[in-house]
Amino acid sequence: MAFPKDFLWGAASAAHQVEGAWNEDGKTAGIWDELCPGHIAHHESGHTACDHYHRFREDIALMKQLGLKAYRFSVSWPRVIPRPHEVNPKGLQFYVDLVDALLEAGITPMCTVFHWNLPMWLYEMGGWFCPEAPAFFEEYTRVLSKALSGKVKYWFTMNEPQCFIGLGYAAGTHAPFLRTPPEKLPEAIRIVMLSHGRAVKALRETAAQPLKIGYAPTGGCFTPESESPEAIEEARRITFATTSPFSNSLWADPFILGRIPEMMQDVLSAEDLAIIHQPLDFYAYNIYQSMNLNDRDGMLNPRVWPGLPRTALKWPITPECIYWATRFLYERYGLPVIISENGMANTDFEMLDGKVHDPQRTDYIHRHLLQLERAAEEGIPVAGYLYWSIMDNFEWAEGYDPRFGLIYVDYRTQRRILKDSAYDYAEIIRTNGESLHR
Ligand code: BGC
Repeated sequence: MAFPKDFLWGAASAAHQVEGAWNEDGKTAGIWDELCPGHIAHHESGHTACDHYHRFREDIALMKQLGLKAYRFSVSWPRVIPRPHEVNPKGLQFYVDLVDALLEAGITPMCTVFHWNLPMWLYEMGGWFCPEAPAFFEEYTRVLSKALSGKVKYWFTMNEPQCFIGLGYAAGTHAPFLRTPPEKLPEAIRIVMLSHGRAVKALRETAAQPLKIGYAPTGGCFTPESESPEAIEEARRITFATTSPFSNSLWADPFILGRIPEMMQDVLSAEDLAIIHQPLDFYAYNIYQSMNLNDRDGMLNPRVWPGLPRTALKWPITPECIYWATRFLYERYGLPVIISENGMANTDFEMLDGKVHDPQRTDYIHRHLLQLERAAEEGIPVAGYLYWSIMDNFEWAEGYDPRFGLIYVDYRTQRRILKDSAYDYAEIIRTNGESLHR
């Protein structure tokens, strides 16, 4: 059997996308709470989202029903640290309770320290340009480690620096909606990199048990045109090219190999690198599509044909990307791979029979897992697969239309319905992947 016995079959979410309770129990605003007006589809916001803050026990009961082995959640920084150097005990307690409930349900908690909702107080001090941001991030991580590291073994320092810098600070489509001139961007990237390094170090120093630490990047992954050695080499080369904030190697080379990428030659010093380059235990990768077919910007692409299968967000469905990404990333970085996000947006709705039938998602999951299985069969250590997302949620600038969940959420009533794909995924988990071959 290709998937290891202790394979982490799971699902993921992020605080701002599911929690709601945006100003309750001492939480202050983050950039996604405050800066959104005018930027989100239908003027929506994450203020209530799935109300998971109040309903997490019910949600964990559903996770248990599905037999999830792991659940990756993130912590809201402004909920835990509402003002500089101030800890909010109620906010912190929420995560302690969440983790306890997961453990009680037999689910391995996996904690992401930062998934995009930067506190407004830090944004007002300069955000990712603030020279003190790494110290604040370290302090915040220490608070989490003290409260949770005895119970949580798996940690991710941050989610997709590619996106919160690339979309938030360069393209201006995500909060804080900035269009920083390209020549200034490396300064912010340096601050983010130092924050990661200091957080890893803080976790190791304060951990109540040996931890497994990584981060959850994404990045453009290219798939070869054929399996000829030349085509494979070409795909590998572009996958690791460093020409934009979305690059894989821009973030991974300094973190894992201790190498300064070209884009950062002028801003990163050897002392910086000593902080940034910390031992990591796995390479977590968020992957949704192969970049070969990315024509969202109107780019002409010879591999795109009319009627190409696409998700509700118009992302091409390209399952082979998961095999190639896993292989390329393992070859270059030598760490066990966790697919920390993979999933599809669909136009799910409750049907006349009261159920949510989503055969496209079931098919999507099967196709992607079969590709991951290929990687495992070839001897690449794959440690887990976390479907994005456990439930429908606030899809950032796209609002609530794109539904990624295994669990349907009726936002008017907060009623949950397990989609057909959730039942199917439960069977995949139960059989450790065997049911993919039925
Ligand atoms: C992010 C999630 C997001 C998902 C789908 C990833 O980039 O980590 O927060 O919802 O993709 O867009």
